[in-house]
Amino acid sequence: MAQLFSHIVVVLLVMTITVSKVEATPPGIANNPSHSHCSDDEIKQCKNLPHVCPKFCPNGCITECRSCKPICIDGASPSPPPPYYPPPSTSPKKVKCKSKDKKYVKCYDQEHTCPSTCPGTCQVDCVSCKPVCSCDKPGSVCQDPRFIGADGITFYFHGKKDKDFCLVSDSNLHINGHFIGKRNENMKRDFTWVQAIGILYGTHNISIEAQKTATWDDAIDRLYLNIDGESILIPNKEGERWMSEYGPTTYVTRTSNTNEIVIEVENILKITAKVVPITEKESRVHNYGITEDDCFAHLELGFKFFALSDEVSGVLGQTYRRNYVSRVKMGASMPVMGGDKEFSASGLFNADCSVAKFQAVNEINEGSLNNLEMPSLRCNSGIYGRGVVCKR
Ligand SMILES: *[C@@H]1O[C@H](CO)[C@@H](O)[C@H](O)[C@H]1NC(C)=O
Repeated sequence: MAQLFSHIVVVLLVMTITVSKVEATPPGIANNPSHSHCSDDEIKQCKNLPHVCPKFCPNGCITECRSCKPICIDGASPSPPPPYYPPPSTSPKKVKCKSKDKKYVKCYDQEHTCPSTCPGTCQVDCVSCKPVCSCDKPGSVCQDPRFIGADGITFYFHGKKDKDFCLVSDSNLHINGHFIGKRNENMKRDFTWVQAIGILYGTHNISIEAQKTATWDDAIDRLYLNIDGESILIPNKEGERWMSEYGPTTYVTRTSNTNEIVIEVENILKITAKVVPITEKESRVHNYGITEDDCFAHLELGFKFFALSDEVSGVLGQTYRRNYVSRVKMGASMPVMGGDKEFSASGLFNADCSVAKFQAVNEINEGSLNNLEMPSLRCNSGIYGRGVVCKR
């Protein structure tokens, strides 16, 4: 009896402690006391600056990194729609350097873990043998579109939701981006993301699209690929590959079982594309207000070009010109590239923005690039010497 009694006392004691603990620190406050700071590495100007929460925030606050202002958690606004947050990915992705080049023999096949700032999207830089976030490399377009130009300078280009913009335009290559987004009543612009890209080269065309989806599941493929008017189905398995029968040879390889591919057009380009949803962290930190009906699946893109001319234009393309001087305001906390008008196109495959350079001529003939020794060809190395351009 005494034993039972003491047992009950212990149980009661534990319960009391648990209850009082919960009462003393409501969950919101526990994580977010009366102060907060921005912890986004990307936004150096704001990172770790302490902010005092406004008094009316019942559950504490977070600091919105872009504006560098504290905002209430679970908003003080009257019953907002229930936000949908994709479940966080379990553990950071493991990546390896897959280049068999002799230079990287020490690094080849060594396993690395993605940094915490990009747990699902990193690659091993075989040169330094370190994992780097894919969206931090020059030639990337990620998030609400954050561009990193060839010059390494980061800038935002918001465009407009449901519209198309010229990302790259050169005589033999053109890439448009289709933007989706959410209206933001508090700002003069929309929140936007790149949902699809349309690529034109020679007489060929490729579109890569993120399919609209309500709830996100990493295991379900939301990537839609169309080449020359036909949808391309590649088995959902890392390493599966599609190859064109025409030249310049075009390869599409899955770099993950789902939602991640690399497209290579021989001697012209290499594009990595990954379909991602808006994550909980992004929606919370940037106040996107993502709801249950649409997680705004969009593309994270990495570009490499092997044969651009010095005339190349487009939001991203212009940064590849040798004499390019960035127009974005240096030192601004959020440098924005203007020019909605000059980059605006009338459709995913329409090379009709005012700065367009593309001509759909069959200049790159079948197989012509396979024989660089042909005397009728004039070959020049690309602007950074990474590729070869040939003209008849
Ligand atoms: C894409 O290529 C196919 C095959 O050449 C062609 O029929 C189609 O019209 C092209 N689409 C666009 C939008 O250029």
